[in-house]
Amino acid sequence: MVLPTFTIDAALVRSITHSPEVMGSLLVLLAAYAIRLFMPVRHKQMENSPVIGKATDREFHNALTEGYTKYPNSTFTIPTAHHPMVIVPPKFLDEIKALPETILSFQKQVSARFLGKYTGLGVNDTLVHSVKVDLTKNIVRILDELQDEVDYAVTKNIGDIPEWKAVPVYGTLLNLVALLSGRIFVGHPLSRNETWLQATLSYTIDGFVGAEKLWTYPKLFHPVMQYFIPEVRKVHSYLRNGAKLLEPIMKERQQAMRDNPNSKKPSDMIQWIVDNSEGTDGQDTDYVTKTQMLISVVAIHTTTMTTAQAVFDLVAHPE
Ligand code: HEM
Repeated sequence: MVLPTFTIDAALVRSITHSPEVMGSLLVLLAAYAIRLFMPVRHKQMENSPVIGKATDREFHNALTEGYTKYPNSTFTIPTAHHPMVIVPPKFLDEIKALPETILSFQKQVSARFLGKYTGLGVNDTLVHSVKVDLTKNIVRILDELQDEVDYAVTKNIGDIPEWKAVPVYGTLLNLVALLSGRIFVGHPLSRNETWLQATLSYTIDGFVGAEKLWTYPKLFHPVMQYFIPEVRKVHSYLRNGAKLLEPIMKERQQAMRDNPNSKKPSDMIQWIVDNSEGTDGQDTDYVTKTQMLISVVAIHTTTMTTAQAVFDLVAHPE
């Protein structure tokens, strides 16, 4: 590797280091930077946006109701931990929806709120495109595959039995959703691999808990504390182990393309991620693994919660 070289004028350095004005300004800058790093993070609130509730509140249901009642046509702020949340009235929805990522970024806010630099949590363009375009386009074919996977998933998690059986709703649905989505995201056998399954299931919980724990330390310590918080360490291990499992599949596909560039590509989420990635990201197993974990984060618990709620509603209203 060739290291970059640069020349420096010794006399200039001496005159800078001997100048009290320059050194004084540098010290002030350093002190300001240190204070900024150690201070609890504060964010600019929108002007004239009244704050409802306290940052120490465990839940904000009442604050939301109060805010909506008092300010139906203007913004109000809920002082959620680390990142206060500004609630905007529906009349601004179209305007906000039209703003590009460069002005109002969902991706940046997710990464900032959940410390994506350390937890990996976030969303990227590759993921959004693969879901919005490719997954949507292939939905009919996917339904057939899901039907096949349902048989396996139900037999594994509930059993092939004619009688009624009591099962925990959330846990059982979680396992079903993980198997079904895994079938579309990586295909089997990998989708049924226990290490992979556990990683895709646990990443969400450990990622969010890890971010929450990291936030209890000043920002300056985050790069170090990531190695001491068990949940953040687990997230790193899911990525490492996941990459080991994905590596042979990636290698096989790369080899197939080298052998015959015109060969038909597989049509699954691994391939869409590879094809939709920028530059060399698509050849990078770590990047593809991370994007795979992210898709599990956005897909598995959300779908499970919605389905579990539907089951509870049916039980509460059997009519
Ligand atoms: C019932 C289950 C689901 C719920 C309730 C849900 C909810 C949400 C919500 C609230 C957002 C944020 C949207 C925004 O503020 O702009 C979101 C974003 C997203 N969701 Fe879901 N989601 C569900 C299932 C899924 C599934 C199954 C996938 C993937 C297969 C998925 C992929 C995504 C992606 C990629 C984004 C980011 C979109 C973007 O940045 O444009 N979601 N979801």
